[in-house]
Amino acid sequence: MSSKRQILVTNALPYANAALHLGHILEYTQTDVWVRFQRMRGHECYYVSADDAHGTAIMLKADEKGISAEQHIADMRAIHEADFRDFLISVDNYHSTHSEENRQLSELIYNRLNDNGHIAKRDITQAFDPEKQLFLADRYIKGTCPKCKAEDQYGDNCEVCGATYAPTDLINPVSAISGATPIEKESTHYFFKLPEFTEFLQDWTRSGTLQQEVANKLGEWLDSGLQEWDISRDAPYFGFEIPNAPGKYFYVWLDAPIGYMAAFKHLCDQSNIDFDQYWREDSPAELYHFIGKDIVNFHALFWPAMLKSANYRRPTKVCVHGFVTVNGKKMSKSRGTFINARCYLDHLNPEYLRYYYAAKLSNSVEDIDLNLEDFVQKVNSDLVGKVVNIASRCAKFVTNGNNGQLSANIEDPQLWQQVIGAADQIAAHYENRDYGKAIREIMAQADAANEYIAAKEPWKLNKVEGQQQQVQDICSLGINLFRVILGYLKPVLPEMAAAGEQFLNDSLDWDALQQPLVEHKINAFKPLMQRIEKEKVDAMVEASKQEAAQAAAKPLQGPLADEPIADEINFDDFIKVDLRVAQIIKASHVEGAEKLLQLTLDIGGETRNVFSGIKSSYKPEALEGRLTVMVANLAPRKMRFGISEGMVLAAGDGKGIYLLEPDSGAQPGQRVT
Ligand code: 2FM
Ligand code: ZN
Repeated sequence: MSSKRQILVTNALPYANAALHLGHILEYTQTDVWVRFQRMRGHECYYVSADDAHGTAIMLKADEKGISAEQHIADMRAIHEADFRDFLISVDNYHSTHSEENRQLSELIYNRLNDNGHIAKRDITQAFDPEKQLFLADRYIKGTCPKCKAEDQYGDNCEVCGATYAPTDLINPVSAISGATPIEKESTHYFFKLPEFTEFLQDWTRSGTLQQEVANKLGEWLDSGLQEWDISRDAPYFGFEIPNAPGKYFYVWLDAPIGYMAAFKHLCDQSNIDFDQYWREDSPAELYHFIGKDIVNFHALFWPAMLKSANYRRPTKVCVHGFVTVNGKKMSKSRGTFINARCYLDHLNPEYLRYYYAAKLSNSVEDIDLNLEDFVQKVNSDLVGKVVNIASRCAKFVTNGNNGQLSANIEDPQLWQQVIGAADQIAAHYENRDYGKAIREIMAQADAANEYIAAKEPWKLNKVEGQQQQVQDICSLGINLFRVILGYLKPVLPEMAAAGEQFLNDSLDWDALQQPLVEHKINAFKPLMQRIEKEKVDAMVEASKQEAAQAAAKPLQGPLADEPIADEINFDDFIKVDLRVAQIIKASHVEGAEKLLQLTLDIGGETRNVFSGIKSSYKPEALEGRLTVMVANLAPRKMRFGISEGMVLAAGDGKGIYLLEPDSGAQPGQRVT
């Protein structure tokens, strides 16, 4: 094997404002397979990721939920991390761009760009929401299309007729956030002088760092001339303030890729890894970014130019993939094909999808179609019908006939040589991210193994006097072929490989696959993978439809929306919720909060501070003295305005809110059951 490489790998950092869906999982699978392959080959390969936690969208989302941005991103991070874990994505560290490491690195890099004269400053005029006191990006302005007159069109293009225009061309433009008519307002912005890097980028994009088709696309942009890049946003903005520029924040896309460095820095600090070894200008290590085709400009223009100015190494490769379609069409909420990662996991084994994606991936930017019928058929036929079948047909003869001891002989040396001889070709396909080719090659070897067993018919031979050694030799070779094939699949199917390792009583290392297991004891065989049941796929699609319908039914209504009855719980679940009679001893408005009142509650000798979204229906003074019911054992939640220590119970249908009140005579602190 070639000498040990040092490799750092990243995927595009998911925004902390939405759940992950099967489009995200394509990228993480592609990245993870590559990382696991490199590690299996004995290289030092670190994989880091993080939540992309800054920006207007995240700030507005937190506002909508009535919680602080910090609480919102902490909640999202926990959800994303669980999805990563359950899809078997082997990150060494999952961090956040809202971290101390990222603040420091962002400031450092910005200061270097500034010192090098690569930052410009000038005034620009933009749309401004006078009610929300917020500058409006194009996507936050809507109005009537100037061409076809379709209403409710966003920003700079019409979804009905396809016209493109400036937001100022919209008829009756309004802020999508408050409904107010935007005004024009001037403010100072900071720009990164990208045009000064044109020549550098012309070389860099053509130096083998990108797929040909991506380099060609960038070539067109480079030829038509680069623009300075606006890297600042005005307050209010959830992000990092720019050094020496009060009220100005780094645009989310400035600190997002720096988040790659920050996530790695955090890992280095914990694990004693040399950060500079990977990031210094002349680093011998390799750096790979896996991304989707929609964010190429950020990774292959702005990012390498920033790194160059700041005197850091540039990426070895930016690996670009296409989008996921489902059943040949864009993912759709109404069809139930916009499938969230968690919804998939609630119904199906993650390795089914990892395998299917791997089988379809190439190193091009073409879209990948998840055809749900083909998915069931392919996984069942390849993994259960071909791979597991080899072991299940041979194992019992070795276990029963020779106490689990494999033979000393290789019954068909030519076949053995053929299967182990495929290793280099398969490795080259993995290295080039041509996983579909790797899988085809592996399945060709699985076919050869199955044909061999079918031709030798050990189940018949076993009944013939004097043929028992021959049966052992055939089945031992079968088990050895299974081992090599499963080893080839290990980067894609880590859990199935682990179960196989247990059965084989061996660890599947790439180089060791070249040596057969002879006179080696294996363990009892257990089925390593179950068939996909089509009903589970149907149930997942149905659940996705319902999720989408429920989300659409409660815009901004939070817990007060009209909802179907929740899933059944048992008494033990119910009794965990500690409901208490509470007396409202104080109620007040919360500065800056549209929906909240702050309540001080007496629950019998103990007082609680609770923020409650009941402002639209109650005046604070009318509440003081009233009894209500609260959840007393809810974990405290950090809101933008302080900590909320529980929740009061109210009914509502989105139009009115009705606080629950016990009959008179109830005493604060009494348990409600
Ligand atoms: O497109 C996205 O989802 C971005 N959040 C990706 C950021 S990648 C990196 F630059 F952080
Ligand atoms: Zn139009």
